[in-house]
Amino acid sequence: MKTLQITPSISQLRRQLTPWREGGARIALVPTMGALHNGHLSLVRHANLLAQRVVVSIFVNPTQFAPHEDFAAYPRTLKPDCDKLSDTGAVDLVFSPSPEEMYPPGFATGLTMGGPARGLESDFRPHFFGGVATVVAKLLIAVMPDIAIFGEKDYQQLLVVRQLTRDLGLPTEIVGAPIVRESDGLALSSRNVYLNSGERLIAGKLNRVLAEACQRLREGEAVTAVETDSANALRLAGFDTIDYITVRDAHTLAPLNQLERPARILAAATVGKTRLIDNMEI
Ligand code: PAF
Repeated sequence: MKTLQITPSISQLRRQLTPWREGGARIALVPTMGALHNGHLSLVRHANLLAQRVVVSIFVNPTQFAPHEDFAAYPRTLKPDCDKLSDTGAVDLVFSPSPEEMYPPGFATGLTMGGPARGLESDFRPHFFGGVATVVAKLLIAVMPDIAIFGEKDYQQLLVVRQLTRDLGLPTEIVGAPIVRESDGLALSSRNVYLNSGERLIAGKLNRVLAEACQRLREGEAVTAVETDSANALRLAGFDTIDYITVRDAHTLAPLNQLERPARILAAATVGKTRLIDNMEI
């Protein structure tokens, strides 16, 4: 069982990490935006199996939200988040900086990502991966962890983070952790709290449509037919907008006209005002 410490400052964070590192401890970072659910807690437990010291960052990163998105409304629940982390007994340190600590006045640096950042989420949220890449690079540089753990629910984000870590020569191994789901299969997400009861029922069908698509692809059905039918199935299930449901190379996210493994099916769709994403290995 560990005792949780909390710090809002990068210099204090570094001071706390130094003796752990000098003592030879392996350090894991779990970056989050707070509003923690069981999916996050599974990342933290996973981190605790792979490293002696676990740092969780909690920061709602303004640069990954477009002006029309939910930055102001995004749930901020630091105290209950810390209680949940403390209850796991798996976390040593929470880094919860202010926006000014991460982006001091005059901040003028940002990363531009190509490769796996192209298409999919970027077609609908063009600002998103630049913001994610910049903040994740800052977090990795501040903590310099041996490993950092990201959930596979944000599969494109996981590949983007792997790419930037390689490109910037950062000494951190990026570990992907499996999606945690509700009993009807809905992938856990901090944004699920926005769903009303009718929308929640519809949301639970996204993973079923993906699972059915995977099944048909494994049986040898054509990729384009399965993609078209799956988009229709989402519409019929009650989704209001389907941004994409598409089969991609699992390493590069290049479109696949024929199934070649490793492959992944990825989807983004909106129910009411809530945009959901999910994906599955084929
Ligand atoms: O996945 C998230 O919660 C965020 O995009 C991340 C990686 C913490 C960066 O702000």
